[in-house]
Amino acid sequence: MAAPVSSVSHRPHHIIVFGATGFTGRFVVEEVARCAAERTGGGSLKWAVAGRSRQRLEEVLERAAERLSMPEVRTDTEIIVADVSDEESMAAMCKQGVVVLNCVGPYRFYGEPVVKACVENGAHYVDICGEPQFLERMQLEYHTKASDKGVYVIGSCGFDSIPADLGILYTHRQFKGTLTAVESFLKFSSGTEGMCGHDTTWQSAVHGFADSGSLRQLRKKFGHKPAACSGSQSPKEGFCVFQ
Ligand SMILES: NC(=O)c1ccc[n+]([C@@H]2O[C@H](COP(=O)([O-])OP(=O)(O)OC[C@H]3O[C@@H](n4cnc5c(N)ncnc54)[C@H](OP(=O)(O)O)[C@@H]3O)[C@@H](O)[C@H]2O)c1
Repeated sequence: MAAPVSSVSHRPHHIIVFGATGFTGRFVVEEVARCAAERTGGGSLKWAVAGRSRQRLEEVLERAAERLSMPEVRTDTEIIVADVSDEESMAAMCKQGVVVLNCVGPYRFYGEPVVKACVENGAHYVDICGEPQFLERMQLEYHTKASDKGVYVIGSCGFDSIPADLGILYTHRQFKGTLTAVESFLKFSSGTEGMCGHDTTWQSAVHGFADSGSLRQLRKKFGHKPAACSGSQSPKEGFCVFQ
């Protein structure tokens, strides 16, 4: 059973945005700043940015302050310098936060030291990973340790799971009867310049597909059984392209 977040609330920050200088991290910084400013009641939300370059982190805060017209984001937000390859810096960062939002990817290369440091130093961990090999390996290797420490390790809090989870929840609530299967469709719309993806996401996908054999091996270790299903069979999952 995990300890409630309030039990570590003596830490200086409720949230630490790690990888705040990245493409995604910058959006997360703005969102956290907005949420902190809008928060009413229950005390203020204390947060910090973290990454391997103080100068780049300062630039991120500067830009966020300007975009949000909130100068206090630049002046009042603490900067923590931490590098994935420096274990001490990771531990020092994790000791200062209740929750670490990890935006440093590809996770298969950089994620484990962050999960490890969070578990060992009692900070809850959240990421936006879309790399199943990493997510499932972390579950195999850290579930028991995290559970013993009362730490939550929550992967894939991004595009890969949030729309699907909310979609299922919504459908379940609206559906009159027993919901046995849900098919979801994804439609991309591009502008006049076409579509593009960010380089690190591309790398994560390429390495993931290239290494799909190891995922099959990993899943054997879990021994997952298909979820119980009543009524008609679930449709087969897969990709199809609609013109
Ligand atoms: N599932 C989703 O919805 C979703 C959406 C977007 C992104 N993602 C995933 O999120 C990850 C990040 O994507 P991105 O496009 O934001 O990548 P990015 O722009 O390349 O940012 C990577 C971040 O990692 C930091 N970093 C790299 N090596 C580090 C180290 N040794 N120590 C500390 N920080 C280090 C970089 O810091 P520097 O500035 O110092 O280089 C930067 O802040 C990727 O794995 C991507 O697939 C998932």
